[in-house]
Amino acid sequence: MERGMRDDHVFHRDLSKKYPLITHGKGSYLYSEEGTRYLDACSGAVAANLGHGIEEIASAMANQAKRAAFVHTLRFETPVLYKLSEKIARFAPDGLNKVYFTSGGSEANESAIKLARQFHRDAGKPEKHVVIGRWQSYHGNTFGSLSAGGDIKRRQVYTPNLLHFTHIHSPNCLRCPFQRDKGDCDSRQDWSCSTSLEQLILEVGPQNVSAFIAEPITGSQLGSVVPPDNYFKEVRRICDQYDVLLIADEVMTGFGRTGKTFAIEYFDVIPDIITFGKGISAGYAPLAGMIVHDRLIKGLIQNSKGKFVHGYTYSGHPVSVAAGLAVLDIYEREKILENVVEKGNYLLQKLIELKREIPLIFDVRGKGLLLGLEFAADAEGTPFKQDLQITERINEKAIELGAVFYPGSGTINGYLGDHLIVSPPLNSKTNEIDELVHILRKSIKLTIEEIREAGFYDSAK
Ligand SMILES: Cc1ncc(COP(=O)(O)O)c(C=O)c1O
Repeated sequence: MERGMRDDHVFHRDLSKKYPLITHGKGSYLYSEEGTRYLDACSGAVAANLGHGIEEIASAMANQAKRAAFVHTLRFETPVLYKLSEKIARFAPDGLNKVYFTSGGSEANESAIKLARQFHRDAGKPEKHVVIGRWQSYHGNTFGSLSAGGDIKRRQVYTPNLLHFTHIHSPNCLRCPFQRDKGDCDSRQDWSCSTSLEQLILEVGPQNVSAFIAEPITGSQLGSVVPPDNYFKEVRRICDQYDVLLIADEVMTGFGRTGKTFAIEYFDVIPDIITFGKGISAGYAPLAGMIVHDRLIKGLIQNSKGKFVHGYTYSGHPVSVAAGLAVLDIYEREKILENVVEKGNYLLQKLIELKREIPLIFDVRGKGLLLGLEFAADAEGTPFKQDLQITERINEKAIELGAVFYPGSGTINGYLGDHLIVSPPLNSKTNEIDELVHILRKSIKLTIEEIREAGFYDSAK
């Protein structure tokens, strides 16, 4: 990518970068103005889950825009709102039956944090307001969601503005923050990553804690790390014991990405709130929200006159909701979950083979089509120097070769460690997976050569 200040009026994500201009997309591919084809191997930001250019979704949105593009949900509602809510509630775990829409995942988590607070306050527990999150988790970029999240690099700039929420370590057996061994934890049935939640609740005071928020499988910050099998069962038990609501952030994992409709299903636990985003509209429109347990709804009816003191102009926007409805129809009709499991297993095997071939790949992990690679400078897992930005480099090489991935860093402690998310559209075909792996292999090898030649192939030791 070309660098340098550009003579235009766009406030670019990186003001010094020149980005390829995409004119259109078809299936798993994006096409630039210059005619370059890019394989979308990360579904944008794990959002474009059905790929690009689907006429059926575009028509559903256009038809809704022609009928009623906007109504304010304080005064009016639309038939599509009922249809989509009903469908989501049908897909959701037992007891989660009411759907609240927002435009993005940050707003969804913001809404969940506020709902938890109001629910407790109106139930006569006015002190409950602290949210416990986890280091190296991401819940969004608004102040509330950023405060709950644990991405040090994103938080740091705004630390003075953040709310006084607290955090425990994320589970990560490969690099256990408690220096424990998975086998030992399992045999003792004692996982420090979950017991630390109880310790923190007791320290803050259970009377002050409103909710615990966690991604069932940690996406952008850890590169698809799956917790120990019993982690969420323990978390649920602890939350119940101290009257703390459990918010499962499924903004990235929800609607089939991991091979289940919701990733929390892997752990046989029912959260109080599930937040969702991205996959619900497969990126065709800004749409996200939360699914709320009957228990909380009953509380609002009994104690809050049925009103959640919150709301956005674009909550339940008819055009976005119509997109969501068309997307869920396609997920069902095309049996997308089955494809995710099949292609996910296929891709996982290919990545494991790649790891055998390229020693710098330290780990391959994930579920369904949310897979992650972790990179390290040696077999012991020593991280690369932070400013090497190895996965950014690999991704830039991949873009030159015609594919785009989702790089990340801070895997080990928020600063050190590098990972790459591989998350192609959920309807990917085998030949596309093969092409993805081919470009990835080449990109990694070229990057290694390049950094070796430049003499800064070195670890952070
Ligand atoms: C787990 C998770 N939660 C929340 C968000 C924030 O969503 P949005 O960017 O739509 O506000 C993201 C975005 O990547 C996410 O991955």
